[in-house]
Amino acid sequence: MSSAATLPSLETVKTALAAVLDPTFERPLGELGLIEGVELDVLDVGLRARLKLRLVAPSDAHKARLESDVRAALAPLGVSEVVITWDLVVPMRQLTGEDPVPGVKNVILVMSGKGGVGKSTCAANLALALQRAGARVGLLDADVYGPSVPTMFGLEGGHPSSGDGVHIDPLERFGVKLMSIGFLVEDSKQAVVWRGPMLSGALTQFLKDVDWGKLDYLVLDLPPGTGDVALTLAQRVKVTGAVVVTTPQEVALIDVYKAVSMCEKLSIPVLGIVENMSYFIDTAGVRHDLFGKGGGDKIAEFAKAPLLGQIPIEQAVREWGDKGTPIVQAAPSSPSALAFADIADKLARIVAVEQWKRSGATKAPAGEGPTRLKIVR
Ligand SMILES: Nc1ncnc2c1ncn2[C@@H]1O[C@H](COP(=O)(O)OP(=O)(O)OP(=O)(O)O)[C@@H](O)[C@H]1O
Ligand SMILES: [Mg+2]
Repeated sequence: MSSAATLPSLETVKTALAAVLDPTFERPLGELGLIEGVELDVLDVGLRARLKLRLVAPSDAHKARLESDVRAALAPLGVSEVVITWDLVVPMRQLTGEDPVPGVKNVILVMSGKGGVGKSTCAANLALALQRAGARVGLLDADVYGPSVPTMFGLEGGHPSSGDGVHIDPLERFGVKLMSIGFLVEDSKQAVVWRGPMLSGALTQFLKDVDWGKLDYLVLDLPPGTGDVALTLAQRVKVTGAVVVTTPQEVALIDVYKAVSMCEKLSIPVLGIVENMSYFIDTAGVRHDLFGKGGGDKIAEFAKAPLLGQIPIEQAVREWGDKGTPIVQAAPSSPSALAFADIADKLARIVAVEQWKRSGATKAPAGEGPTRLKIVR
């Protein structure tokens, strides 16, 4: 039990806190400028530290680890209680002068090359998982030939309005800002027949003319194939990176390899791989690898990117998608929703680390913190 005479000074507590390693960057909090405020209350027994810390990714895993490391570092000083307020400060892309979405910190492509692997399902659920973890998120349906967002978010027949008569206001559902060609045509199931230049014009408009406001992440659901869409996007906007979706079947991977190669040609970093429809758990709890095994690892090795996770085949994923509430929102504790949340958590941390590496900074001066972590490419 510490008496008032033996209580540490605020400076001592600050110094101990500054030396705690940030679990995502593995560098001291003080050096990264991630400490915004430290206050101490004297309790009957020991001290309570009220901390305001900057968080570079909306990650529960990061928060849990940091909180426990902070407690361990301050306990020997007599701090018996730690209360942390988090300030989410997601690092920003480097913008070019003509960037169409200057308020958007990260642009993340969800792609595959291959059709029907669950790109739209992953894009929708990852967007929602990031939003539920506290980030400001938008989802752009970049599949103008087969839009999925209106159905997946229960917004069929929805049409955006325009507050200022110039910009289009995105629709919003479950806290995520949404835009899709399906909101602009009469019947979203009708095929849109466009040639390359029109497609590229529509995509540019979706970025430039939609009032996305300030977002931490804009997730783009790409169509199958490796063609015009990624090329247009890479030319128009500094993309943070791509998440590549695959299935486990080895025989079906050729289009996924092509998508990874295309990312390389366009200098789009592959942030990670998601293996979808990985396995099926039957009612007795037995796992079945219905579509084989190893696809995710193979693609990860080829892309030199991490396998972010595996999503099981669950009937509820399709059912909830068809009913207009993605599974992360509808059944957050289902196995696939938990897998999506875990992938989103890892992805957000990878994005932060990527930004840090690209910034070329070896040290962020105390007090300036992650605002300095800008991409230089
Ligand atoms: N893990 C899963 N478990 C069960 N069903 C799934 C799973 N992932 C996706 N699906 C279902 O598979 C179908 C295809 O998924 P989705 O539309 O997301 O794929 P896609 O890659 O976007 O397709 P496209 O190439 O046509 O754009 C949908 O009916 C979806 O609900
Ligand atoms: Mg799709």
